[in-house]
Amino acid sequence: MGILEDKANARLFYKYLSKVYDRINPAIWNEEMRNDALEWFAIREDDRVLDVGCGTGFATEGLLQYTDNVYGLDQSRHQMEKAFAKFGARNRVRFHRGDAERLPFADDSFDKVWSSGSIEYWPNPVDALAEFRRVVKPGGRVLVVGPDYPENPVFQRLADAIMLFYGETEAQRMFEAAGFVDIEHHIQQNKPGTPKAITTIARAPADKAAGRAVETADNADASPDADADASPDADADASPDADADASPDADAEADA
Ligand SMILES: C[S@@+](CC[C@H](N)C(=O)[O-])C[C@H]1O[C@@H](n2cnc3c(N)ncnc32)[C@H](O)[C@@H]1O
Repeated sequence: MGILEDKANARLFYKYLSKVYDRINPAIWNEEMRNDALEWFAIREDDRVLDVGCGTGFATEGLLQYTDNVYGLDQSRHQMEKAFAKFGARNRVRFHRGDAERLPFADDSFDKVWSSGSIEYWPNPVDALAEFRRVVKPGGRVLVVGPDYPENPVFQRLADAIMLFYGETEAQRMFEAAGFVDIEHHIQQNKPGTPKAITTIARAPADKAAGRAVETADNADASPDADADASPDADADASPDADADASPDADAEADA
């Protein structure tokens, strides 16, 4: 597991990277790539969309071109402060500080769940994807952008030491393990020689309830109950609109 596949390390990393993120990000994840992914996602005007690992709001801004009903979640206060500066902390976007692996939302809350450039930091990506499946409505779609696995063995070793890089086979495995269907992958790249991104779009089964019943019976502990303990915001209320909790700056955790 790479050094940044650790929540505390990733928070510390973004405490510093947040200062320059918007300037260096376009070298590997630019507007054209984001806009292609948005088009594939086919967001409708009345869709409620969650942006997991929203960071400074680069993708959030794109989502807002399609719908006004956008929620953003990130574990880094420093990244989110940049997003607040763009959209306001309580204005166009409903921001929550929290963990991709324990989403503070009720089951079936969203029509679509988007996440770009965040999966590579999650220690348990399949758990997070299972959370996506839980909070998206039956038949709803999710889109995840992550770093494609490099071909060069030297880069592979370096990549593995830093964070999660994965190819289509691993993406397919993770999305299937999380219970998704109709899974498709796209490889994206800014320009030749720059790192490639793998963008996966998948659908939650129409009959999610049946899947959940099986999971609960198999492994009661793994059932994400939308709040319990570990949410950094201690978001007791899982309803997407219940903002009692969601104070974007209610930072319970140590501020790495
Ligand atoms: C590369 S930035 C991506 C920002 C934005 N989505 C974009 O498209 O530019 C990755 C973000 O994922 C967030 N992140 C990493 N691990 C997370 C976790 N476990 N839960 C929530 N957010 C996380 C980081 O704080 C960071 O803001």
